[in-house]
Amino acid sequence: MKLKQKIILLNISTLLIMLIALGIIISNITDNYNLYTRLQYLQGQGDYAATYIEQYVMNKSRSFFDVPAQMESNADYLSEFLEKTVNCRVQIYYGNSLLGDSEDIVAADTIVRPEVAQTFQKNSAYYISKSPNRTFYYAAPVVIGNKYTYSVAFIYSLAEIDKMKNNTIQMFVITGLISSIIVLLVGTAISNMIIYPIKALNHTTKQFSKGDLNSRAVITTHDEVGELSHTFNSMADNIHEMITKLNNEKEKQKSFFDNFTHEIRTPLTTILGYTDLLWKTNDEEVKDRSLFHIDSEGKRMLKMVESLLELSKLKKFDMEINKQNTNIKQLIEEVCDSMQYKARRYNISFRLNLEPITYIIDPDMFKQMVINIIDNSIKYSKSQFIDITLTKNPKLSLVIEDYGLGISPKSLENVFEPYYKVDKSRNSKIEGWGLGLSIVKEIVNKHDGTINIVSTLDKGTRIEISL
Ligand SMILES: Nc1ncnc2c1ncn2[C@@H]1O[C@H](COP(=O)(O)OP(=O)(O)O)[C@@H](O)[C@H]1O
Ligand SMILES: [Mg+2]
Repeated sequence: MKLKQKIILLNISTLLIMLIALGIIISNITDNYNLYTRLQYLQGQGDYAATYIEQYVMNKSRSFFDVPAQMESNADYLSEFLEKTVNCRVQIYYGNSLLGDSEDIVAADTIVRPEVAQTFQKNSAYYISKSPNRTFYYAAPVVIGNKYTYSVAFIYSLAEIDKMKNNTIQMFVITGLISSIIVLLVGTAISNMIIYPIKALNHTTKQFSKGDLNSRAVITTHDEVGELSHTFNSMADNIHEMITKLNNEKEKQKSFFDNFTHEIRTPLTTILGYTDLLWKTNDEEVKDRSLFHIDSEGKRMLKMVESLLELSKLKKFDMEINKQNTNIKQLIEEVCDSMQYKARRYNISFRLNLEPITYIIDPDMFKQMVINIIDNSIKYSKSQFIDITLTKNPKLSLVIEDYGLGISPKSLENVFEPYYKVDKSRNSKIEGWGLGLSIVKEIVNKHDGTINIVSTLDKGTRIEISL
């Protein structure tokens, strides 16, 4: 059964139970009241009839012994007379025998009824026959001169009271029907109001479970359902975010794998080409050149594998770093010294502005980081100078800046991705796998620092590291 039907059923059954209970109570109270007033009326009439009969018969009788004969001859007249005052059928009994009756006597009337029998003990009595056509039987003793006891019996029809009782019941049935219809209509409207947000939420949940990660519940109420919708929405947000992250991660892994295979393919093809040449040629010069290329390509591949290993080592969560108090100024000067030769080949000179700072870092990693950044500026910037600034206030800040080609904003987003190279054709001539900045980023992370690259095309690149 649907919720809506349950709500309506609940309302209608509550209403009907109340109406039935109320109907039973009210019809019983009024019916009892009506019967009570009838009883009082008949009691009064009974007393009156008894007195009237006694006086009438006493007047007619010449002596006390004349009473039975007078009673016998006047019973029919008396019953008919009394019928007019009491307004119901009147009978007069002497013991078991029916002396007079205001209506025609039928066979059943000769059996003495219990309430009449009661009057033999000089008590009045009554009984009410069962529905549907109830009749009020009332009998009162008529004692004449303390010697003769007669009975006067009233057979009073309760049709009017029965009709009233039926009318009351009918009224309640009609009220029940009409109010059920109203409850049905109003209940439908209200339950629609209650159920609409639930239905909407259900719809959204279905959409979401089918894979529509953008579907969200519209919150229209501030009740429990509204709260549930709200909870659902934030759950959906979280799931969406998680799935997006997973997809991105998957994408990254795939592009990493693609790039790796692509990069490794070129040197391998070169090596195999020259090996083939070696098999075929006898020319010493060609042999020499082939061996030279095989050697340098092999070394290049080895370098890449080493970089990759380093990156994967850095990416491990539990990789321990060997931190120690290090003179950073000295470390940077050493790096510049060792790169002096390469820089000169590219017509670049260093301008150092280093404060004498010692700091707790992993010296090998830090060195690797500085080398990678300076190496990029040397290889890619075509700048004249590389400015290296080291300060501390209170964080350690290292800025390496060149004034060369710069990096486009679009590429800047990706430079930290492994194997990412801005211009593949340009860079392929220069050694480089696109792993350098990925390693730099991991080293900064391991030192709980931040790295920021500011770069403008044709203006230069500024790399700020703060630990
Ligand atoms: N100072 C710079 N000036 C211009 N381009 C740079 C600079 N530093 C890095 N890049 C670009 O960022 C890319 C990624 O650098 P990196 O990860 O070190 O890879 P790689 O040096 O192996 O090419 C480089 O290919 C280069 O195009
Ligand atoms: Mg590099």
